[in-house]
Amino acid sequence: MGPLALHADEAKGYYTFPKLEGEIAPRMMFNGEERLIWSLNNYLGLANHPEVRKADADATAAYGLAYPMGARMMSGNSTNHELLEEELSKFVQKEDTMLLNFGYQGVLSIIDAVVDRHDVIVYDAESHACIIDGVRLHQGKRFVYAHNDMENLEKQLGRATKLAEKTGGAILVITEGVFGMSGNQGDLKGVIELKKKYNFRLLVDDAHGFGTLGKTGAGAGEEQGVQQDIDLYFSTFAKSMASIGAFVSGDKKIIEYLRYNTRSQIFAKSVPMPLVIGALKRLELLQTQPEIKANLWKVVDALQGGLRKEGFNIGTTKSCVTPVILNGTVEEALHLIHDLRENYGIFCSIVVYPVVPKGIIMLRLIPTAAHSLDDVEMTIKAFGAIKEKLANGEYQKNEVADLSLG
Ligand SMILES: Cc1ncc(COP(=O)(O)O)c(C=O)c1O
Repeated sequence: MGPLALHADEAKGYYTFPKLEGEIAPRMMFNGEERLIWSLNNYLGLANHPEVRKADADATAAYGLAYPMGARMMSGNSTNHELLEEELSKFVQKEDTMLLNFGYQGVLSIIDAVVDRHDVIVYDAESHACIIDGVRLHQGKRFVYAHNDMENLEKQLGRATKLAEKTGGAILVITEGVFGMSGNQGDLKGVIELKKKYNFRLLVDDAHGFGTLGKTGAGAGEEQGVQQDIDLYFSTFAKSMASIGAFVSGDKKIIEYLRYNTRSQIFAKSVPMPLVIGALKRLELLQTQPEIKANLWKVVDALQGGLRKEGFNIGTTKSCVTPVILNGTVEEALHLIHDLRENYGIFCSIVVYPVVPKGIIMLRLIPTAAHSLDDVEMTIKAFGAIKEKLANGEYQKNEVADLSLG
């Protein structure tokens, strides 16, 4: 049993499965009190944007949630699904795009579709669960490389190449545009540089980069100037797009192949029409209102700059994801989070062992375009106070924090 599960009864509803109520915004209700929220991947603040809300509501009134019925290939297609694919292709600078009903299943199933037992997968050690689980389905060999370590990747590519020569298979490299815990950007440039020496295809999961990075918001590939060299570009609608669904883009030939071979799409219902129309509206806003992304980065820069200035360790983030790394036990982490929520009115996510090493407490902040510079200031002040209390041993209590749920 993991440390949080040990306290499952006391923790449920507070540390785990909390309920954030009210409109999706920087300030929401938690346990009947207003809190400043830093844990939603609503990067561009679109979840509650009036034009988005109207597009979602109008499309739901017009179509209901059922339409179209069936899997895309059978009876679940529409002109709007195809239009969204065309618009996404243009936006991420790829020939073709396939919509996916969920990102997690999508990635898993793309990996499953593009390799067979003769092929070799080489993937980053800190990959998201959807990549890990996709790799698990693979019946051939796989090699993991140390996170973002290009020397180690080259070594694994050498091994993979030898093996692929024997089996007659090919090599698929998988990494992320932005790693959701550390905020590190995947070294896409470095990976692509290795294409000069090794023969492989590259799949990038850019869940956190799409909409937040690059000149136009097309993501980490655009930011690093290598978008054209990514063979399969994936992102979800669950973050910047503030919705449900996902997509994968690439050359026409491979996307057409995926349309007929991605089991999570062939054997499951297609994305409902209101989500498709809602995604078209969101994509339009991404393109026509660049000030939204500019606002996001104002908040990100203020938050990350302010935390660094106050001496906080925020790791090596190169994205909006803002980890704050402290030293302490799981028990201390629980008391600290309780104090932060109850006495400073701040709600953020907490990551403890086994996700991070023993003795590390990681608080994870997700700034959005909807936050203000006052929110940033209030947070940096509060973090200063809790850091001091942690250093003074004030969170070293044996019992789980009094949750004051009543
Ligand atoms: C890196 C990454 N890939 C994939 C997913 C899964 O996407 P979805 O929520 O659409 O299933 C997530 C989380 O949303 C993610 O962070």
